[in-house]
Amino acid sequence: MSGHSTYQPSTGISKWVDSRLPLPRMIHDSFIAYPVPRNLNYAYTFGAMLSVMLVVQIVTGIVLAMHYAASTGLAFDSVEKIMRDVNHGWLLRYLHSNGASFFFVAVYAHIGRGLYYGSYKAPREILWILGVVIYLLMMATGFMGYVLPWGQMSFWGATVITGFFSAFPLVGEWIQQFLLGGFAVDQPTLNRFFSLHYLLPFMIAGVVVLHLWALHVTGQTNPTGVEVKTKTDTVAFTPYATLKDALGVAVFLLVYAWFVFYLPNFLGHPDNYIPADALKTPAHIVPEWYYLPFYAMLRAITFNIWFIDSKLGGVLVMFGSIIILFFLPWLDTSKVRSAVYRPWYKLFYWLFVANAVMLGWLGSQPAEGLYTALSQFGTLYYFGFFLVIMPLLGLFETPRRIPNSITEAVLATKNKSDMEKLKPGHASA
Ligand code: HEM
Repeated sequence: MSGHSTYQPSTGISKWVDSRLPLPRMIHDSFIAYPVPRNLNYAYTFGAMLSVMLVVQIVTGIVLAMHYAASTGLAFDSVEKIMRDVNHGWLLRYLHSNGASFFFVAVYAHIGRGLYYGSYKAPREILWILGVVIYLLMMATGFMGYVLPWGQMSFWGATVITGFFSAFPLVGEWIQQFLLGGFAVDQPTLNRFFSLHYLLPFMIAGVVVLHLWALHVTGQTNPTGVEVKTKTDTVAFTPYATLKDALGVAVFLLVYAWFVFYLPNFLGHPDNYIPADALKTPAHIVPEWYYLPFYAMLRAITFNIWFIDSKLGGVLVMFGSIIILFFLPWLDTSKVRSAVYRPWYKLFYWLFVANAVMLGWLGSQPAEGLYTALSQFGTLYYFGFFLVIMPLLGLFETPRRIPNSITEAVLATKNKSDMEKLKPGHASA
């Protein structure tokens, strides 16, 4: 896909560098001359947003760490000191805490795009799997970061989540104590969470490099799902994709800035402004919004299944809901990639999105009565979508006619809109 290099070093210095470390050639071939499908839409700009957010999180996080004290007696106060005494400390902290939320907004949109356009299908399986690894690392990083301010939700959230691991037979208690560094959330827990919270974003950055490498081997998909065939199917990455990405990122950053400056605590929980207290359990322990659908599925399992008790069942369902994503390339049996040409898949896809939103809402409600019943229904649909609908649809669905090439699809849309303009009553007609 990336083809032969078209880089031509023009000056003596650039020739000298090129024959020793051809970094400018690599940048030119990957981000300037690199051919991308000519019909990419804004759904393809979330990868750029994710790259920007990763940098924002690492930079703000490093400066925050300069002022933060990872000690149970000092952590809460050190965060308050950042907010009040450190120059622009409030801005750094709000950029970082809201940045985590916006990182997840972008990743959910990015994954949603992948599901809609069948981005995970051959030959992009490894690209997809690396994405799921990144997502898992993001979840772990977010969880450990939330513990650092040492508020009530930090403490009790960590107590609940590490408690899940004790559900595993034989090794459960051992894993739980290994994570905690003792028998309860305490100083050793804070030390290791701080250390790992600092380390994991760099591991994410490493996996992102592999992700982009894999992307450059297979090339991007596009809304038609038809692979690039001729040169007319593509345009150069710069200026076309660069500008589109820049506009997408600018709008995204505006919304992010709106939250940072006007609604900085909207996505957080007020209880986390109360210092951690091991003797006072909050009335409702709720995780950050981006974990809520999984939390709902965990609590949906209120019954034993054979020898598996409800607690272990819930934990298996929660972990299983993410692990299942690894197998997507093989669960989808359809020969057609994009949902644009798959009427039934499109319907089930949007139901899946609505179901995920519903599960997110249910995760924030008490686990009782109708809420539990709806969570059980939502969990069933979540797994049914991957394990039943995806494999069967590929066998029974009749897809719409697929264009022969990207160029044909683009010209068909253009001709249609030109014809529309010629219709009587159209403003420019
Ligand atoms: C830090 C997190 C991530 C970064 C920086 C990142 C970056 C990118 C970029 C720049 C692209 C190309 C532009 C685009 O299609 O948007 C891309 C494509 C892709 N990403 Fe990610 N990504 C991340 C996480 C993920 C996750 C969590 C998944 C899936 C679980 C994923 C799956 C994919 C796939 C399948 C493609 C190819 C899309 C296609 O061509 O159809 N990525 N990624």
